[in-house]
Amino acid sequence: MEKLHDLQEIFQARIDADEKIEPKDWMPDAYRKTLIRQIAQHAHSEIVGMLPEGNWISRAPSLRRKVALLAKVQDEAGHGLYLYSAAETLGVDRETLIDELHTGKAKYSSIFNYPTLSWADIGAIGWLVDGAAIMNQVMLTRTSYGPYARAMVRICKEESFHQRQGYEILLTLCRGSEAQKAMAQDALNRWWWPSLMMFGPSDKDSQHTEQSMRWRIKRKTNDEIRQQFVDATVPQAEFLGITIPDPDLQWNESRGHYDFGPINWDEFWQVVNGNGPCNRERIRARVKAHEEGAWVREAALAYAEKRKARNAAATKVA
Ligand code: 3HC
Repeated sequence: MEKLHDLQEIFQARIDADEKIEPKDWMPDAYRKTLIRQIAQHAHSEIVGMLPEGNWISRAPSLRRKVALLAKVQDEAGHGLYLYSAAETLGVDRETLIDELHTGKAKYSSIFNYPTLSWADIGAIGWLVDGAAIMNQVMLTRTSYGPYARAMVRICKEESFHQRQGYEILLTLCRGSEAQKAMAQDALNRWWWPSLMMFGPSDKDSQHTEQSMRWRIKRKTNDEIRQQFVDATVPQAEFLGITIPDPDLQWNESRGHYDFGPINWDEFWQVVNGNGPCNRERIRARVKAHEEGAWVREAALAYAEKRKARNAAATKVA
């Protein structure tokens, strides 16, 4: 018992000294467990997040928009792979994680359970969803677990392109016809509140935040990052000339932040618990893609086995 206590003390001292924890280091089981949970859900979010946008690749209004959207969706797949690899350094295997997604055991970000009804939604997703993801992910570049922090550095570089291309789509629409500007406003109306929900429940209702802050997995709380996102995004909406759908939104000089209205936490938990507009459709699409892609995995594994056998034979001869 004494030894475990010492190990936990040394671990916490390393965290408090802002040292990075690496895969081979001793870590509390609960630290490992919550990291697997969060990193796997982050990876699932990247992969499921490809679906709402993929839905518009064939309908992009120009070749330039199509190329940018193709590049973004492809980036998201890569982000998912980095994150599954980061999770695997904690001793889980990818197939298990993917099975947990397909069977509903693992979560992914609520935001991807909303439908993309118009081209303006692709702009709103880039601007708001990737904008919110960047806020969170820049913070995670300083997370205490080494592989996760390093994956975030690479992902954040690509996310800024994602946010820019989304914002430019909306800027183009807002400077277009009345109908195009109305399309942009409609998208903001539908994506604003679900984007605020991406940061998780409020701190008082968050099950993990306190411990995650102690272990420096999180460097800011859910509410702190949400506030940072609101403060950064309101002026961008003003520049676009569209209105954020929150009558309580207003600058609070004494706080130095925007005050904003109450979030619909019933809607949040409904969506998180599988009853959002697109939850079933998203998982069905993921399961179908995984099943149809089985032959690619089998061929890749067979080729790797063959190569391994050939190299072993060559080494024997040499
Ligand atoms: N959607 C779904 N589930 C959510 C959620 C959301 N928006 N917010 C919170 N939850 C879940 C948590 O997973 C947890 O459930 P669990 O115990 O079963 O895992 C529960 O609600 C309680 O929430 P907590 O705030 O206590 O949980 P966390 O401390 O894990 O904080 C988080 C939630 C802020 C989302 C954190 O997990 C996190 O920072 N994750 C990494 C970032 C991430 O996953 N972002 C998702 C979007 S990725 C993306 O947008 C890709 C971009 O390229 C488009």
